[in-house]
Formats: sequence, structure tokens, C-alpha cells
Amino acid sequence: MSGEIICVAQQKGGAGKTTLVSNLAIAYLAEGKRVGLLDTDPQGSLGKWLDVREETLGENENLQFATATAYGISRALRGIGNEADVILVDTPPKADSDIRQVLRESDLVLIPVATSQADVWATHDVLDLADRAGKPTHIVMNRTRTGTRVGEDVANSVAGLEARPLQATLANRVIYAEALGRGLGVIEAKRSVAASNEVRAMAHEVSGLLGM
Ligand SMILES: Nc1ncnc2c1ncn2[C@@H]1O[C@H](COP(=O)(O)OP(=O)(O)OP(=O)(O)O)[C@@H](O)[C@H]1O
Ligand SMILES: [Mg+2]
Repeated sequence: MSGEIICVAQQKGGAGKTTLVSNLAIAYLAEGKRVGLLDTDPQGSLGKWLDVREETLGENENLQFATATAYGISRALRGIGNEADVILVDTPPKADSDIRQVLRESDLVLIPVATSQADVWATHDVLDLADRAGKPTHIVMNRTRTGTRVGEDVANSVAGLEARPLQATLANRVIYAEALGRGLGVIEAKRSVAASNEVRAMAHEVSGLLGM
């Protein structure tokens, strides 16, 4: 049986797609799940993250990786899907035909919004594509800063979108950038209790949505 497919998409660059994919992947891996990763972004950040990881930790047979674009996407998903409980798809900052291809195969769509109105504006095309594909979609509030005016404004704008935000959020923390560069998930990094807790809460909420 093939695994649940989660597409992480957002037209705005730097909103946290790769951060979300890598951290959810490690959270599920730590739960004993077999995780598949598909990178459809030619920037290749997820593959570089995995290269760094494997240099220090070695390969893990429960963490499969593939890259694909265009018509290769379905085939790649089938390939890793047979060996994974959950597949996380990282995508480029676009809303194009490759994203449509991923959305067609996905069980859930997550759209990260870092704390900026520009990120909220940039959600519309992916929301539209996900809606046309009939896929359940949620906003993920990333780089949150409680008690700031911008945080409040962005939360209000997100509340007006057609996709509900996940309850779990990721705060703005240096540990996310550090862990990404070191090929880790924040749950593996030292001194990251708050970040680990929010990532685990998010992984738990997402598994609940997928019934896994
Ligand atoms: N919650 C966070 N706290 C602090 N830094 C973060 C957080 N989320 C992401 N970042 C940092 O922001 C930068 C962009 O994040 P990331 O690469 O995940 O975005 P992206 O959406 O994948 O970008 P692209 O569109 O270029 O693929 C990275 O340096 C990352 O470490
Ligand atoms: Mg990325």
C-alpha cells in the first residue's frame, strides 16, 4: 500500500517549505515511520540537506529520497510510495504545472506562511490549484512572533483565507536555520525543547488529519 502524500507548496520564496518538509520528515522518522522525500525544486535544497545529513549520520533505509519534475513526478511518487508510510513533497516557489502534477497525487496540502503579508498574498494561486484538485489544504503559520503588530495582522489575514491554519505553529527561532544547515531536524538538535515540542505537535496534528 502506498503512503500518504503531503505536498508543501507556496509561491513565495523563503516561506519555509523546505524547513517544514525536513522537520516533519525527521519527526515521522523518529516515530518509526518510513518516510519518502520528493524534491521537485531545481534549487535542490532538500537534497543538499540530506547530503549533509548522510555525511554525518550515514544513510537511513527508512528515509528515501527522489527528485522529479513534470511527467516524472507520478512515477517518482509511485517508486518511493511503495516503501514509505508518508511522503513529503518539497516544491519550488511557483504555482505551475509541476505543482498541479504534485497536487493531483497528494492527500494533503500545506502552505507555509512566514510572518509577512506578502506570504499571505502569495497563497492565492496555490489555494486555487489545490481547490481545483479537490485536496484538503491548510496554512502553516511559520516564523511566528507573538505579541507583535505584524504577527496579529498576518493572523487576521490568514483567518480570512479559504484554508484553515493548523493549530500548531512554528516560531521564529535560529535553531530552524541551524538545523537545516546541519542536515538535522530541530528535534535532533541540542537546546531545542520549544522548537521540538512545536514540531512534534505539528507532526501529530498532520497525522491526525491523514488518519495515520
Ligand atoms: N521558523 C523559522 N525560524 C527561523 N528561520 C526559519 C524558520 N523557517 C524558515 N527559516 C529560515 O528561512 C529561510 C528560508 O526557509 P526555507 O528554505 O525553508 O524556505 P523555502 O520556502 O523552502 O524557500 P524556497 O522558496 O527558496 O525553496 C532558511 O534560511 C530557513 O532556515
Ligand atoms: Mg525550499
